[in-house]
Amino acid sequence: MAFIDTSLKLEQIPPGENRCVKLGEAQVGLFHLKDGLFALDNLCPHRGAPLHDGFVVDGVVTCPWHQWQFQVKDGVCRNIPKVRTAVYPVEVRDGVIWIDLPTPRLL
Ligand code: FES
Repeated sequence: MAFIDTSLKLEQIPPGENRCVKLGEAQVGLFHLKDGLFALDNLCPHRGAPLHDGFVVDGVVTCPWHQWQFQVKDGVCRNIPKVRTAVYPVEVRDGVIWIDLPTPRLL
């Protein structure tokens, strides 16, 4: 695990909005909720839709393709709880977003 500089500033993601950032092979969805910034594997575990294109209500993102729902804070699928998308630690350093990714995803 290693924190990676996304070069994206927190001010570029207004509260209530989502973004996708590509880091090596990884696509990370960033979700700015009212209680913080959260990072998920952006590819839906069902068929790979970009989760950052989904809409978020009460901390739950709805996949834009088939409407599976994922809790943004822990990645658990509301439809099938044994399914989850990865959640990554996030830090904001001097206004810039850093994400802690597993090393293999950076290759
Ligand atoms: S691709 Fe996300 S629910 Fe099907």
